[in-house]
Amino acid sequence: MPESLTLPDEAATAALGRVLARALTSPLEAGVCLWLEGELGAGKTTLARAILRALGHAGRVPSPSYTLIEPYELPQGEAYHIDLYRIGSANEADFLGLAELPGPRRLLLIEWPEHGGRRTPAADMRVQLAIGGGGRRARLVPASPAGEAVLAAMS
Ligand SMILES: Nc1ncnc2c1ncn2[C@@H]1O[C@H](COP(=O)(O)OP(=O)(O)OP(=O)(O)O)[C@@H](O)[C@H]1O
Ligand SMILES: [Mg+2]
Repeated sequence: MPESLTLPDEAATAALGRVLARALTSPLEAGVCLWLEGELGAGKTTLARAILRALGHAGRVPSPSYTLIEPYELPQGEAYHIDLYRIGSANEADFLGLAELPGPRRLLLIEWPEHGGRRTPAADMRVQLAIGGGGRRARLVPASPAGEAVLAAMS
């Protein structure tokens, strides 16, 4: 898996989501947190949607822009798709209860993780998306041994 990927269209972003989802299967047992980083419209929700569908969610995957957190029941455990863009203060972040989310057998997909400050759960992998190259670019930056395992399982 090269350091930086070019994603020419939405289908390529979704394909990356499917590859990521396959690599997540075994780390999911212990719990995995992916930070989905990048500017407005970089493709974070598109990627989250593809990951959740590839992990077996058949229904809609709405953007959590307004609800901030959307829970999912997956065959392998629970997933929480979180968007911290609208978090205005540390109190609001506390109110969301990020620290109380279950640890094992759960997947966290967090858009705008930087808006949660130190309340944002630590990343195992940072997926950095950017607009460019006629579509999007992606970089995968592992941030823990579990993240390293995910990256290794992708190649
Ligand atoms: N590789 C790509 N090339 C071109 N367009 C893409 C690509 N991936 C996703 N898109 C498109 O970019 C648009 C924005 O995507 P998306 O909503 O996933 O972004 P986001 O990062 O979640 O934005 P926000 O910060 O507002 O939550 C969508 O119309 C989507 O189809
Ligand atoms: Mg989004």
